[in-house]
Amino acid sequence: MIRTRCDRTPAWGLLQAAYQSTGQYFDTREAFAQDPARFGTFSQEAPYVFADLSKNRIDAATQGLLLDLARQSGVESHRDAMFAGAKVNATEQREVWHVLLRNPPLAPVEYAQAAAEFIAIEQAKVHATLDAITDVVNIGIGGSDLGPQMAVLALDAFATTGKRLHFVSNVDGHELAAKLPHLRPESTVFLIASKTFTTIETMTNAASAKQWFASQGGTDIARHFAALTTNVAAANAFGITTTFGFWDWVGGRYSLWSAIGLPLAIAIGAAGFREFLAGAHAMDEHFRTAPLESNLPVRLGLLDVWYRNFHGFTSRSIAPYHSALRRLPAYLQQLEMESNGKRVDASGEALPFGTSPVLWGEPGTNGQHAYFQMLHQGTDVVPVEFVAVKKARHTLAGHHPMLLANVLAQAQALMVGKADMGGHKHFPGNRPSTFLLLDDLTPASLGALIALQEHRVFVSGSLWGINSFDQWGVELGKVLAKDIEPRLASGDSSGLDGSTAGLLARLRS
Ligand code: F6P
Repeated sequence: MIRTRCDRTPAWGLLQAAYQSTGQYFDTREAFAQDPARFGTFSQEAPYVFADLSKNRIDAATQGLLLDLARQSGVESHRDAMFAGAKVNATEQREVWHVLLRNPPLAPVEYAQAAAEFIAIEQAKVHATLDAITDVVNIGIGGSDLGPQMAVLALDAFATTGKRLHFVSNVDGHELAAKLPHLRPESTVFLIASKTFTTIETMTNAASAKQWFASQGGTDIARHFAALTTNVAAANAFGITTTFGFWDWVGGRYSLWSAIGLPLAIAIGAAGFREFLAGAHAMDEHFRTAPLESNLPVRLGLLDVWYRNFHGFTSRSIAPYHSALRRLPAYLQQLEMESNGKRVDASGEALPFGTSPVLWGEPGTNGQHAYFQMLHQGTDVVPVEFVAVKKARHTLAGHHPMLLANVLAQAQALMVGKADMGGHKHFPGNRPSTFLLLDDLTPASLGALIALQEHRVFVSGSLWGINSFDQWGVELGKVLAKDIEPRLASGDSSGLDGSTAGLLARLRS
């Protein structure tokens, strides 16, 4: 695998020149006027997802240069290395092999065993109690929370087992304390989800849940507590004997496909979970085999780099027009910003260009009545990614056409603008957006949508020459919190900066 950082390729200089000469003046409305076939040229079919890219500031020449950039940077061989199980996460000396979890025939024997165990819930270790169980509480944070929570909500219409799923992530005791009064120990299962089984928030919440369980007369920990972890020994030491394992080659934010997906498997059943994996696998195959010019994750990743590094756009807004996708923005925040929020390349050299954009958003149509004002008329251009679903799974008259009309209208308004009124009523238009369309929100299409997002993040990270699979930036705060916690009791502020010392004193007063 030979990787060349994007700014060290011939295509980079050509793209800079293209931006200077035409790219910065590109007007999507003119592009449509000149090319009636633009919608076809700049749209892309992929498994379960249709993407309209035509409202973006891109033409065929730029697209060609971006594809050259991908080839010259070695994105294809980097991708192939990931799929082949190379240690592409070099700073942690780990494979990045979550794609294997979606492709059971290729999986190693121990995966096949564990997958059979957790996917086939009826045979799973928690099964003995599941019948009598009404509430399943997932205690985990980051990748051990955002993925399963997002997916359980998204696939609510496919819930087969009738269990109430709860998610507790924050170390703020208000979260767990608010749930406990509504639970009964004999009908609750706690899933302690932590890849490392060391994360302080999760360990603290797990310990409190265990205490509560005992205080309420709960006795059978083996039946009411299960651990989803790579660190089975630590789970055992904590007193949990029912464990669902996975491996260090599954990154935290890529772990939804592993035992961390158990809440989803419980909610939608084994067959639904298999469909979810199959949808993701279909997208993997698309990413692995489609030519770059018709490869959707590649096209999205290239666009991300074009906007971030040439246009200088610093954020991207995600607008899912489906209330079941309301946690998608939070999930994608971790995926994008923990993966690509890096200031050095894979060899540790400081980067001379920007990397991860700020990702943010809310479900439509709520965002329209909050921050879309800024998207339409603010001073910054923010590319928007709309996600819409053709089919509704409710029967309330009129709602779905209205929802779809709104998502189309927002994308249209951003691009077309309105020039015939001046001043406050002027809409500049030419504001870029991408439109992702699913026929239906199903386990398979959700799997494909998530895999698409994983791979587009891979593509931009690959171009930027960074390691998208470590997260050293979260460590310092963890270490400092450990130092500060005893100071809250002792009041010792020696060695602290003036602000932290001042706040500590105020908190103790
Ligand atoms: O602190 C960041 C992080 O390591 C994430 O990458 C991860 O998803 C999260 O914490 C939770 O980690 P764990 O599953 O090991 O508890």
